[in-house]
This record gives sequence, structure tokens and C-alpha cells, in this order.
Amino acid sequence: MKLITVKNYDEMSQKASSFILDLIQSKEKPVLGLATGSTPEGLYKYLIKAYEEGKASFQHVTTFNLDEYVGMERTDANSYYSFMQENFFKHVDISPSQTFLPNGKAVDLQAECKNYEELIANANQVDIQVLGVGLNGHIGFNEPGTSFSSRTHVVDLDESTRQANSRFFESLDEVPTQAITMGIETIMESKMILLLVSGEQKAEALVRLLEDNAITEDFPASILREHPNVIIIADEAASNHLSK
Ligand code: GLP
Repeated sequence: MKLITVKNYDEMSQKASSFILDLIQSKEKPVLGLATGSTPEGLYKYLIKAYEEGKASFQHVTTFNLDEYVGMERTDANSYYSFMQENFFKHVDISPSQTFLPNGKAVDLQAECKNYEELIANANQVDIQVLGVGLNGHIGFNEPGTSFSSRTHVVDLDESTRQANSRFFESLDEVPTQAITMGIETIMESKMILLLVSGEQKAEALVRLLEDNAITEDFPASILREHPNVIIIADEAASNHLSK
């Protein structure tokens, strides 16, 4: 894993965008793995800016999002589908038929998970997977205890994750209890992983990731140590507790 430390959230976002822009400018049919949450919002702003300035086109880009809430209409403002439309897709020239998220309203959720895996495999895997990390080390919605050999699956969300995500909802009761997420093995098959970490509240998770040697399912992000091509971009606030 390579750690790049930057000053603040804005620099983290800009730096992350440079990796994505390099990929889409050099590869004919790039495949991006995308994340939601507060962490990647700035990255999407920089990608939109590059598009508006005529420096990038997303016409030949395919995207796969990590996860989606179960039982939520795509049109719901809190769905990850809506998040991606509002924060990225509707502002650039990406083809809607090339943007994929799991369908949390699928009648047969198991079939939906299998189908999502097939779509990723048919796209020849993800070139760059953007990741954030949860306070408990979750990646995507792979909560502590998830098998490292998991593929796309339905998960019960941790209470701590529901609490953390309740800031986007009217109340905790409205936060879904389940989600579909790419599995850990699915994520690990991406050719490169770009992990973004910002803010003081993520500092302990970063220490655990970088300085605790254990690779354990109790802290899902720890598996990233086994991936050959991980770049972590962390801002000063998130890096403050690192020993060096
Ligand atoms: C969410 C998402 C993750 C995200 C994480 C951190 O629940 N499912 O993909 O990385 O939690 O979110 P944030 O970036 O808002 O801190």
C-alpha cells in the first residue's frame, strides 16, 4: 500500500481525480468502481470540472458502484442511485446504460447479486476502485465479520453504520437495515484501489489499517494489505494519529 498524505479534503479530492483522469485519458474503455458517502463528493466535483473544461470525456467509461440500500426506490433522495445522479452522472457525458449500481428493489435479491457479479466480470474487471472506509473498517458495506471470500451479497447493516449514515435521513428509523454490497473478494479483484480517508474521525481507522499488522475479518479494510496496488490518499486530519 502506498500512502499519499495531503493537506486537506480538497487536495485529497483533486489528487484522487488525477488518478482517474489519467486512466480515462489513457485507456479506451476504462472501468471505474465508485463509492458514495461524504468522502468521494469532492472527487466527483473535480471530475465534473475536468469535463466542463473539456479536459475529459466519460463517453467510453463504465462504472460499477459498490453498494445500494435494500428496499429503497432508486428515485428516493437517499438511494445511492440518486446520490450518483446528483453528485456525478447527470453532470457529465457518461451513458446511463454504462452506469451500474445494485438494484436494492430487486424481487429476487440473490439473483440480483449474481447478476451484478456477472456484469463486472463481463466488463473485464474494475480498473480503479474508489473506496472510502467506515469508522469500523467497513469497505463498501462489508461490515466486520464479513468473509474475505465474499462476493456481491446482501448484508445486515451494523447499528454503528446506521447511526453514522442517519445524518442523511430524518431519523434513525428511516435508515435501511440491509444493503447489497460488492463482496470483499469482488473489491480485491480490482486492478487498482484508491482509498480516500479524510477527517479526524477516520484517524483511528487509518492507524489500524497502516500500523496494526493483523489482517482480520474484524476489520475488513485490513485485507487491502494483500492487494498489490493500493493507493491511500489521506488528509492531515486523518493522518494525525500515525506514528510517523
Ligand atoms: C458508507 C458507504 C461506504 C463509505 C463509508 C464511509 O456507509 N457504504 O462505501 O465508504 O460508509 O462514508 P463517508 O465517506 O460518508 O464517511
